[in-house]
Parts: sequence; C-alpha cells; structure tokens
Amino acid sequence: MTAVRPDIAPKQAPEATRFPTGFVWGAATAAYQVEGAAAEDGRTPSIWDTFSRTPGKVRNGDTGDIAADHYHLYRDDVALMKRLGLKAYRFSISWSRVQPTGRGPAVERGLDFYRKLVDELLEAGITPVATLYHWDLPQELEDAGGWPQRVTADRFADYAAIMAGALGDRVGTWTTFNEPWCSAFLGYGSGVHAPGRTEPASALRAAHHLNLAHGRAIEVLRGQLPAAVQTSVTLNLHQVRPLTASAADADAARRIDAVGNRIFTGPMLRGEYPEDLIADTRHLVDWSRLVQDGDLAAISRPVDVLGVNYYTPTLVSTPPEGSGDTRNDGHGASDHSPWPGSEHVSFHLAEGKERTAMNWSIDPNGLYSLLMDVTRDHPGLPLMVTENGAAFDDYVSPEGRVEDPERIAYLHGHLDAVQRAVADGADVRGYFLWSLMDNFEWAYGYSKRFGAVYVDYASQRRIPKASAHWYADVIRRHGLPPTGPA
Ligand code: FCB
Repeated sequence: MTAVRPDIAPKQAPEATRFPTGFVWGAATAAYQVEGAAAEDGRTPSIWDTFSRTPGKVRNGDTGDIAADHYHLYRDDVALMKRLGLKAYRFSISWSRVQPTGRGPAVERGLDFYRKLVDELLEAGITPVATLYHWDLPQELEDAGGWPQRVTADRFADYAAIMAGALGDRVGTWTTFNEPWCSAFLGYGSGVHAPGRTEPASALRAAHHLNLAHGRAIEVLRGQLPAAVQTSVTLNLHQVRPLTASAADADAARRIDAVGNRIFTGPMLRGEYPEDLIADTRHLVDWSRLVQDGDLAAISRPVDVLGVNYYTPTLVSTPPEGSGDTRNDGHGASDHSPWPGSEHVSFHLAEGKERTAMNWSIDPNGLYSLLMDVTRDHPGLPLMVTENGAAFDDYVSPEGRVEDPERIAYLHGHLDAVQRAVADGADVRGYFLWSLMDNFEWAYGYSKRFGAVYVDYASQRRIPKASAHWYADVIRRHGLPPTGPA
C-alpha cells in the first residue's frame, strides 16, 4: 500500500469528490451563437438576424452571419469534444434552417445538418441534448405578430413534430425552450434582445404563449418519442434575494420571483399561474381571457427533467419613492423594464464579491440555494444544470496558450455547490458548462468570451483554454480535483 503524503493529499475526503454514478458531464452552445452559415442551404432570417442588423442593437454591429462557423466545422468540434471527454453536447436547432417560413414542410438540407451533427456525436459516444428554441424565431412568424400571438404556439408544436420525426429517437433529451423569460421579457419588454419590442403587456402575453407552446410541444414529443428519450425545458430561475430584512424588500423579492420564475414554474409544474403574479399585472393583461380553457392542463404536462441555468444571484429592494437604479438587473441597459408590473423594483450588485467580465457577481452559493429551493418546492423533480459559466477577458499568450485561472475557480466553486446540493438531497443528473467555445454573446456580440475553448474568429482556430483541460480532468476523475494550497 502506498502511503499518502500529507502535503499532496486531496483537501477533500474522497467521498466528498464524488458525483452520482451516471452524472452527465456536458457543454452547451446555441444555434445562432455558433453556427454561422446564416443564408446557406435555404435558411431564412430569424429575429436575431434582423435585430443584429439593426444599428445600435448589438455591440460593434456584430452579427451571427459567421459566428464560430460550427455549421462547417462541426466535425472538428465534435472531435474536440471527444478529446475533452465530454459525455453530452447541448446544442439548439435553428427553426428557420429547418422550416424557413415557420410553417409548412421542412427543408431537407436544413435537417441534414442536424442529422450529420447527431451522427457525428453518437459516433463519438457523446449524447446529443437538443433544444428546439434558443431565442431565434423565424422572422416571418414575428412579422405575423410573434410570441404575443397565440397562433405562434401552434406553429411551434408543428415544428416540434418535424424535429421529433426527423431525429426523435437519436437524441437523449429534447428541451422545448431555453430561458423563455429572456424571450418574453428581454425580447418584448426591455427590448435588449430580438425582436426588440418594448411593450409590457405583449411581454406577458408572450410568456403565456411560450408556456403554451412548451406544453403543446411536450405532448407532440411524448406522442412520437420512445419512452427512453427524455423531455425537458430549461429555465433561468432567478435566485432572488432581498437587499435587507425589511418588508418592502421582501415584497420586491416576491414580485421578481413571481414575474421572473413562478410565471413559468407555476403553470408548468403546478398547473396554475400564481395569484400574486396575476394581482401584480392585472392592469396590463386580462388573464381570464389570455388563459383559455385547457391551457393549464396542456402547459403542465410533465417533463422528465428540469434544466436550470445559473450565473449570478439577483439582489433586489424597493427603493423609497423616486430613488434607486431600477435598471441594474444584469440583463442589459434599457429605458424599458423587463419586469412588467414591478418596474419600481431596484437591482443591486453584491458588495465585496468578485465579478466576471459581464459585471455579474460570483456566488456559487446561489447555485446551491437554487437547486435546494427547486428541490424543496418540487420534491423529486430531476434537475440538470444546463448552463453555468463565466466570461473573462481571455487572450492568447505569445506561447499560444490561454490561461484562465478565474474561470477554473468559477467552475470549481460552482461544481462544488452542485455536489453539496446533491449531498443534501437534490436530484441533479448532470452539468453543462456554458460554453463549449467562445461565441456570439447576443447584445454583447463577440466582446464577451464564455468558452472553455478559445475561438480566434479571424482564422476560426480553436484553442482549448486551461479551463478546458481542467474540465477534462474533472470528467476523467468524475469529481473535482484537489484545490491545492491556498
Ligand atoms: C444565457 C443564454 C446563453 C448565454 C449565456 C451567457 O442566458 O441562455 O445563450 O448567452 O446566458
């Protein structure tokens, strides 16, 4: 037996470094952020193509026209994933690539890209995890009214049927939506995301129709998919905290929790919209007309696993009349609020915490609390962390390396939080790092790098950052490495 030298022994006990057997290690991307090939093989513009071409909407006038050219480089990218040891790859499907007008028959050339991608992944032993909608509505459907119109939910169910028919049984998990909160409230409320509308009532209507589209799609998917294939939705549940113990701040937290979280978890997981949400927003929408008979039953069809995305907590207060910065919510500056009915709530950055390049404070305990809160509110619900990660100002050293110790520390802290939540009873099935590689960060364009792999956009060369090698080591060990001397 080899004696363990105390100076190199892991700080944690070996059991503490264990993730459950079968815990899935993945990385995530989204179609518009990585694919490029915006006008190839029959693809038509989505709302993000239109938005990114609108002057002043995206930093530096960046667009997803080329992005990380994943459309052409997917084989190399899958080979890279395999080298890193990834067990699953979460990607999204560009609706306007497979069904350019958002209606009618699919375009085979568009489907072929995803067929080839899935083939390549399966060949490499990597489970495909596909999201149907990561924010890129076909422009034609927006021209017809977009998500504030109920008919868009019907269109989405048709699109889900196309994808289930084309690829259904070869994907491990189908996710209907990524972060519908952003689609509804950044897209139609604050307007910092496509389509850039600033209509509080439309944002609430969009939220309901996204919920309805989710439920309809789950029905379609469940009807077509083998039982072993999982269905899911990914929410960016805000980990809301009141700034002080005052009743006014508790009310601010309740309001943001309602319009940020429970507007989705309520109908999806409980079959009802929260009464306080309805009270806070009834001057904007008539919920009794918006929500039709049968909608809640449709929306609450069970999912097999809930995806949660977490980056940073949300600290809120109710400022005294007429004071406070109500826009500092980390979702981009706008004169319009993405919080309909609760526009007066003020957002804060935690003092004394380190921040990422997004100016988001780093707080792994937020992820722990989020997983525990969902477990408390929805006991037994299997969870998957479908996004977590950080942007930093990465650069390539003269030796050709990208050293990103801050990202390693971020990931280590957050994976440790996941592990603690698992130990305390949360049923977390996997973790997907955001992102596999640097990409188009929405309104920030290419100015923010979230990748574990660096992308040199001029040459499209991929350089795994130190964090990619670190993550590969985590996957190999199926646990966290020792942190080393402080
Ligand atoms: C999430 C999005 C993802 C990425 C990260 C940083 O809100 O789902 O596409 O932009 O933020």
